[in-house]
Amino acid sequence: MMYEPLVLGIETSCDETAIGIVRGRTLLANVIASSVEEHARFGGVVPEIASRAHLEAMLPSLQQAVIDAKISLSDIDAVAVTAGPGLIGALLVGVASASGLALGLGKPLYGVNHLAAHVCVDLLTHDLPREPTIALLVSGGHSSLLQVDDITSSVIKLGESMDDAAGEAFDKIARVMGLGFPGGPAIDREAIAGNPEAIDFPRGLTHSNDWATRPFDFSFSGLKTAVARYLESTPDYAKADVAASFQESIVDVLLLKALAACKKTGIDSLVIAGGVAANSRLRAVAKHRCHEAKIRLRIPAPGLCTDNGAMVAALGSLMVSAGRPASSIDLEATSSLSVSTVSI
Ligand code: KG4
Ligand code: ZN
Repeated sequence: MMYEPLVLGIETSCDETAIGIVRGRTLLANVIASSVEEHARFGGVVPEIASRAHLEAMLPSLQQAVIDAKISLSDIDAVAVTAGPGLIGALLVGVASASGLALGLGKPLYGVNHLAAHVCVDLLTHDLPREPTIALLVSGGHSSLLQVDDITSSVIKLGESMDDAAGEAFDKIARVMGLGFPGGPAIDREAIAGNPEAIDFPRGLTHSNDWATRPFDFSFSGLKTAVARYLESTPDYAKADVAASFQESIVDVLLLKALAACKKTGIDSLVIAGGVAANSRLRAVAKHRCHEAKIRLRIPAPGLCTDNGAMVAALGSLMVSAGRPASSIDLEATSSLSVSTVSI
């Protein structure tokens, strides 16, 4: 029988203090303490508030995860932690906690990339990711198209957003529409009653010369400006139609480029990951278009798309199984860790 390591994962890169425990590919615990309500009145995450919240939530979350998983800490085979990218003060709390835990237990420590962890969490829902695969990674801080030959060691960036991340665009447009923070889920809900074709908002970087020079890059700043102008010039605008049309532009561009990447590389597998992968319209249109293009599509369960500790534990579990070397016990959190650096 395949060895199924028991791995505890710690995630603190933004505003979630999250602990996940997996055995092999089985999820045993997924505790998430969010400080989102403390940030909401500022319209975005305040780093200092996030760091303090992580300090307060860390030990209770760890204790809860161990109870939920029905294990004792000494059973754990390895500790994995998000080493970056993210807010440095927030990352430091997770990394210091993970180092202390690994040292105390005498177990290996794996400092892993938050973005690779997003991509890999799907293994808890579906089969092992088929590799190579194209990954569309869409979160609050990043939007990239990746070629994943081996999620534990080889991630190649094909393109990324030149300006805002997709989630950031959702958050900013929700703010100007008075829909609150975080904006993605709010726009998703609002758009249900709207017509996605009501307003023809621009699709960034999809002109013919863009396909020649920047086929796999994204830009959402033109869309943001177009929506803001529309709202200013149309005081009695229909909220649901604006939300649906804005969302449609993002979904359309993300999938046009993801499918173009599959075609160009000859890879017939696509994983969509990160907070925006929870978007109901993105999930529905992706399913339809991938079916038409005969591309195998994987999207994690919606609850595993946004930040969590299970994804970190899942990547840690794969690292252990693949025999990858552990990190140094005094590994450094790296705020701008490149997406192609899977572990440090
Ligand atoms: O991956 P994530 O939890 O954190 C980062 O690593 O950034 O992503 C958070 C982002 C936020 O911008 C949030 O608005 C967006 O994901 N998001 C959504 C949805 N749920 C979360 N965007 C669109 N539709 C959703 N249902
Ligand atoms: Zn994330």
